[in-house]
Amino acid sequence: MEVQTYELADGRALIVREADQNDAKTLLEFLPKVFEETDGLLMTRGEFDQSLREQMDLLGKLSASKTQLALVGHIDEELVGLLTFTGRDLERVRHTGEVGLIVAQEYWGNGIGKNMMRSLHFWAEANPLISKIDLRVRLSNRRAIHLYESLGYQVEGWIRRAVKIDGEYDDHYWMGKELPH
Ligand SMILES: CC(C)(COP(=O)(O)OP(=O)(O)OC[C@H]1O[C@@H](n2cnc3c(N)ncnc32)[C@H](O)[C@@H]1OP(=O)(O)O)[C@@H](O)C(=O)NCCC(=O)NCCS
Repeated sequence: MEVQTYELADGRALIVREADQNDAKTLLEFLPKVFEETDGLLMTRGEFDQSLREQMDLLGKLSASKTQLALVGHIDEELVGLLTFTGRDLERVRHTGEVGLIVAQEYWGNGIGKNMMRSLHFWAEANPLISKIDLRVRLSNRRAIHLYESLGYQVEGWIRRAVKIDGEYDDHYWMGKELPH
């Protein structure tokens, strides 16, 4: 996918491009920080224990894949967001994948998440192998649900007690979007 540039409401430019192995080191600094900032993700900061080699291998695998993707978003050369679209390499489900989306908290509410999703759609719409995008989101994550609904995602399922955080359960929605092809 070619590099995409979006102008945010405050005039700054968001640059979205496919991640490659050279991003591994920056991601290893970014990910522990963002895991600490949110409980909207499955992994906790304490569980994140990836080596540089593992991160490079993962990015290498995603960038070599025709059906999976990792996008990074930068503002003024600072990494501000990561989007992954991952799935299994089995013939019957290769047309689908699941989104993971993280924006650094100090940048929330500037349209970064929405524009990174637009870049995913740009890639997926040009990719005849992909016809369905899935994701899971906590019911309490109103910001994320609003974002996905505004981009045409629909609730397709409801997973009760999907997560347990500090002794409290929360449910997940399965949300999805079908592509035109
Ligand atoms: C969810 C997340 C990716 C959104 O990123 P973002 O860059 O803040 O998203 P955007 O600025 O593009 O859009 C946010 C939208 O939610 C709206 N919003 C903000 N707070 C909201 C709330 N409490 N309830 C409903 N909508 C809300 C904003 O107004 C905006 O909508 P608009 O474009 O119609 O004005 C980001 O908050 C994040 O990384 N959270 C932690 C990780 C996470 O939860 N990931 C998603 C897992 S499924």
